[in-house]
Amino acid sequence: MSRVTASAPGKLIVLGEHAVVYGKPAVAIAIDRRIRCTLTPYNETTVNGRSFDPDKHPYLVSMMRRSPGPMRIETTSEIPPGSGLGSSAALSTAFLKALYSSDAADDKRLATDAFLTEYEVQGRASPIDTSASTHGMGIAVNGPENCGEHLWDITMNGNTWSVRDLAIPKMTIVVGYTGIHAPTGPLVEKVRRYRQKCRFADDIIGEIGTVTEEGMTALRKGDLVRLGKLMTDDHKLLSILGVSCDELNKLVDASLRHSYGAKLTGAGGGGSMIALTDEPEKVCGSITSRGGTPFVVRTGEPGAMTEHKN
Ligand code: PMV
Repeated sequence: MSRVTASAPGKLIVLGEHAVVYGKPAVAIAIDRRIRCTLTPYNETTVNGRSFDPDKHPYLVSMMRRSPGPMRIETTSEIPPGSGLGSSAALSTAFLKALYSSDAADDKRLATDAFLTEYEVQGRASPIDTSASTHGMGIAVNGPENCGEHLWDITMNGNTWSVRDLAIPKMTIVVGYTGIHAPTGPLVEKVRRYRQKCRFADDIIGEIGTVTEEGMTALRKGDLVRLGKLMTDDHKLLSILGVSCDELNKLVDASLRHSYGAKLTGAGGGGSMIALTDEPEKVCGSITSRGGTPFVVRTGEPGAMTEHKN
């Protein structure tokens, strides 16, 4: 291998987070913000010009085990870290895409190995982020057979997630970052404990599954009005599950006036919310006025790719 640059996009979960951990369907889309990773074989491993500190770079520790030798690793990112937009999955996917560039590894291997890295470092519960980052565009996890071409299955601890391509219309989505860093693991654990304690938790998870399947149909038809309504319904269900917070509710509320719908995205507890809209400036204004940081993302972003090789 010589010098290789690869990139991979961040992602948004449009519907179905948390319920996907229990085998329900979910929809994720790649966004037009990417991480680039350049790997060059070298006599020692360095990260962006500094010596490699395993405590600071747990993802790289995991991925370097797959490397044939030390590397000079250079990364650049357009994805704000800790914002719930899949920066760690994009990094893992871009790194492995560069590392595997000489053996033409298929996307299933890329999505699976990037997921294993995420699983090792953060105990991630489902492979939705790394699959979205690998494939790009839109994906349906555990969707019905007719929702799109089957891409791959990923199995872990006796659970299998089936990943399909999902055709998505052109959409403008405003992301509102709360500024609160909320790691995924404790929120997944919160839902697990809630399920043990409360008998109707499974009903809520089932309802999220139903809303998500309806959302897949709305997406296929390009019906943004219906999709937006389902996103807002999903936010309410996620709030009942206990994964929203005041800051997210405030930003969702403020966005609804100029949106088809809005909801938290990803694990919740902080991180970001999304609003589906055709008035992005107005939604950005509402988010800013309630203390959030807005940015506009667009759909139709390709997945992991090799950019330069020599
Ligand atoms: O970590 P995030 O914000 O990309 O989203 C996590 C999505 C969950 O469904 C809560 C967990 C998972 O691994 O599917």
